[in-house]
Amino acid sequence: MRKIIIAIDGYSACGKSTTARAVARELNYRYIDTGAMYRAVTLYFLDKHVALTNPKEVARALQEIRISFVVNSKGNSEAFLNGINVEKEIRKMRISENVSQVSAIREVRMALVEQQRKMGKDCGVVMDGRDIGTVVFPQAELKIFLTADILVRAFRRQKELLERNDLVDIDTIVENLKQRDSIDSSRTESPLRKAEDATGIDTTHITIDEQVDEVIRLALTKMIQQPKSKD
Ligand code: DC
Repeated sequence: MRKIIIAIDGYSACGKSTTARAVARELNYRYIDTGAMYRAVTLYFLDKHVALTNPKEVARALQEIRISFVVNSKGNSEAFLNGINVEKEIRKMRISENVSQVSAIREVRMALVEQQRKMGKDCGVVMDGRDIGTVVFPQAELKIFLTADILVRAFRRQKELLERNDLVDIDTIVENLKQRDSIDSSRTESPLRKAEDATGIDTTHITIDEQVDEVIRLALTKMIQQPKSKD
């Protein structure tokens, strides 16, 4: 079967990463969490007090950043920033509260999109984010767009944070998700939107297993299809 690119986009906390990770494991594909890349840049900018409105400072800081992914002993991919494991740090609220502003910066997007295209060039990849099907890989063979009810998303995110010993009240999470949805969808640079040829899946009433099975079913269909001719 031929290797394809699977793009999974959608709002925050719809289960994109969980789905993408499980699909990649099942198909023996590489998983790339592009949100982690924007989060790692945000962590660097915050720690180095980079002025987000100063393009020169932003460009200089971007030159100093190296992001990579390493698969741990449990088979999960973890984000590294300049050789340091930042997987836990980038999930904290202080990053969630600033990542949408950072990911709206043109220079940041240009640098990360270039890196994401390199990571996916050999196919056999599941990439999740906000602009994978529209900007990073508009030619992806399979595009998925996930949505879910805001409260369901907030409770899922709260559970995830609790598992990391981070207790955050539900109202704070709902507010953060709404704010990020709004910034992500209205920004000038690659706003979050469903690609015309993406399959929408509402995950409000389905389990992770069901959503994973559906994506794998769609992926297998694409993998056995002949590639589209170029003319
Ligand atoms: O998927 P996530 O919640 O970890 O993503 C964090 C933020 O990064 C999200 O609010 C928007 C931004 N992002 C983006 O702009 N483009 C992507 N491809 C991935 C994430």
